Amino acid sequence: MPTPKAVTIQDAALHLKEGKCVAMPTETVYGLAARVDSAEGIAAIFKLKERPHFDPLIVHVSDMNQVSELVNEWPPVAQSLATAFWPGPLTLVVKKKVSLNPMISSGLDTVGLRMPNHPIALALIKAAGHPLAAPSANRFGRTSPTTAAHVSLEFKAALDSGEILLLDGGACDVGVESTVCLVKHDQIIILRPGGVTREALLEHFNKSSEFRDVTVTESPGNAASPGHTEHHYETAKPLIVSWSEPFGARSEYSFENKTIAASRTHELKLDADPRLAARMLYACLREGDEHVGSDALFIQRHFSTRDERGLWEAIDDRLSRAARLQIGKIPERGA
Ligand code: TXA
Ligand code: MG
Repeated sequence: MPTPKAVTIQDAALHLKEGKCVAMPTETVYGLAARVDSAEGIAAIFKLKERPHFDPLIVHVSDMNQVSELVNEWPPVAQSLATAFWPGPLTLVVKKKVSLNPMISSGLDTVGLRMPNHPIALALIKAAGHPLAAPSANRFGRTSPTTAAHVSLEFKAALDSGEILLLDGGACDVGVESTVCLVKHDQIIILRPGGVTREALLEHFNKSSEFRDVTVTESPGNAASPGHTEHHYETAKPLIVSWSEPFGARSEYSFENKTIAASRTHELKLDADPRLAARMLYACLREGDEHVGSDALFIQRHFSTRDERGLWEAIDDRLSRAARLQIGKIPERGA
């Protein structure tokens, strides 16, 4: 069989120009990208992902000039966060320009922006000559992809037909999505925990004289982040997440009107180091789905009194949303 030709950045930029989608690596997860100025490409993202139109897309930029083309307001606090954390896993939600395609922002008057810290993503945005809107490259509600092989499993038919081009950048380094922050003048509201930790945000403001009084809070419920729904990141097999008891403490697990014997349940293990746990999280969940001889997956989160929230906050958020059964509760921890 002939070896398939590797997709180049130029091929991918041309594909985007034709109003089609490219799956690109970022430092967090793979994204399914289209040019912000291509109504056809943006519509294709929603169709391919089977994504509801109420869930807005993050726009990826490669330089600060692109920001001014997209936003109506860019508060000094946003600039200070961008200077400190970009390129990196931080999405800033600010007031958008009216000219931006309303499908991108799901009709809201805001847009989420980030500059990804990945050479392939940055090179693609530059070659395309336009910012790229990109959600995670998975079907809506399912586990996010952190390798090119994961993307291939999500979109096999569209890749085979050439509808989507895939740039392979190996495994993603961070492994969980960006932190999504709504930016107000003296207030940052975390809509989704992610690769930039709450501690890092607090430390940034603490050491600044200009922004010392900025507060960092959480959104009450999910009201402000329409796509961060209660059931998200779901595995194909039901996932049981235990915040307390170990695997095998009971002989069967009952939920959603079914009972699964512990012997038909496969235990997944997370690394004790949060950076490695985050990097491996989605690959670990996908391996569980591939495991032969089990009907459900089980993860126990081990807590230590020394734990900072750090990246665990994002990991625990994803686990609780992916879980179909939770045992016990996430212990309260200091910020
Ligand atoms: O790391 C990431 O953020 C990855 C990579 C590809 O950049 N992208 C990603 O996109 O995770 P997605 O679409 O899977 O998640 C974006 C989240 C959703 O929960 C969405 O509701 C929220 O960001 N979001 C986007 N724009 C928003 C806005 N204007 N207001 C509130 N929430 C917004
Ligand atoms: Mg997603």
